[in-house]
Amino acid sequence: MSNNFYHIPVLLTETIEALNLKSGLTIVDGTLGGGGHAKLILEKILPNGRLIGIDQDAEALKAAKENLEDFKENTVFVHDNFRNLNQILDSLGIEKVNGILLDLGVSMHQIMSSLRGFSFAGFEENLNAPLDMRMNRDNPITAENILNEYGEAELEELLRKLGEERFARSIAKMIVLKRPLKSVNALLEAIKAGTPPKYRFGKPTAAWAGNVFRAVRMEVNEELEVVREVLDVALNRLNTGGRLAIITFHSLEDRIVKQTFKNWAEEIKPQPGFGVTQKKAIAKIVTRKPILPTADEVKSNPASSSAKLRVVEKI
Ligand SMILES: C[S@@+](CC[C@H](N)C(=O)[O-])C[C@H]1O[C@@H](n2cnc3c(N)ncnc32)[C@H](O)[C@@H]1O
Repeated sequence: MSNNFYHIPVLLTETIEALNLKSGLTIVDGTLGGGGHAKLILEKILPNGRLIGIDQDAEALKAAKENLEDFKENTVFVHDNFRNLNQILDSLGIEKVNGILLDLGVSMHQIMSSLRGFSFAGFEENLNAPLDMRMNRDNPITAENILNEYGEAELEELLRKLGEERFARSIAKMIVLKRPLKSVNALLEAIKAGTPPKYRFGKPTAAWAGNVFRAVRMEVNEELEVVREVLDVALNRLNTGGRLAIITFHSLEDRIVKQTFKNWAEEIKPQPGFGVTQKKAIAKIVTRKPILPTADEVKSNPASSSAKLRVVEKI
């Protein structure tokens, strides 16, 4: 990469293969990031293909523009949320596309950016960062709002559901007790106070604080809601034979994708006399089981360890 945007694309070869790319296609990358996947997509769809690259993070988009400089004639850069896919394609005068990629979650660049509050890891400055965690800094709700304004029960549910955090109750209690929380370090202190010492000692911070940070980040960015919203729109915007590839990093996200794909692919034949209504499949599942990173990929990029790639084809 030509700038200091740092992200290793996950399941790269597998994703490019799954999209069934060829010259001349129009593809949407709804989570452009630094353009790692996009670059390989562009190489396959040149010379006449087009990539619509969407990211809600202005910093990511700026980096992608630099990294994809050689492909700028074939790329449209859009600063928006992929939940607005309909409006984005309408405004470009595009009715249907041949493929859509969503590589969900945050980039390593976002995680490691001091001042953005996504993480306690990386640099010392991260500890003093404000509790922001917005991928799109134009959005009004920050992590600080959520941590200081949600009720204790609401926080507990959030940590339990999105964070799968076993000490959700005591951590929620400590967050409320230690208000107002202003910095990453203040959140870390609240988590520490709500977690039994024997669970923390000798373990890296990620092991006892990671779930809470991830849960708050997912809430700030409405990460499950946007996936629920975009799936039907995405399928509707595909040409017949077009593919939708989604990489998830969280079990709840994956469940939404898996169940929606299953529902699209379900075929119910009419059974005369049994009152069963017919249902035609609208997509074919390409990946019966999700594609997972190889042991080598996980070794060289531990952030890929929870990744799952699922692909459907519109019929
Ligand atoms: C995992 S990274 C993608 C990395 C990219 N595939 C690459 O190879 O560089 C996810 C990116 O998607 C963006 N993003 C996440 N959710 C989004 C959404 N709902 N709408 C638009 N962009 C989103 C994030 O800002 C981040 O830059």
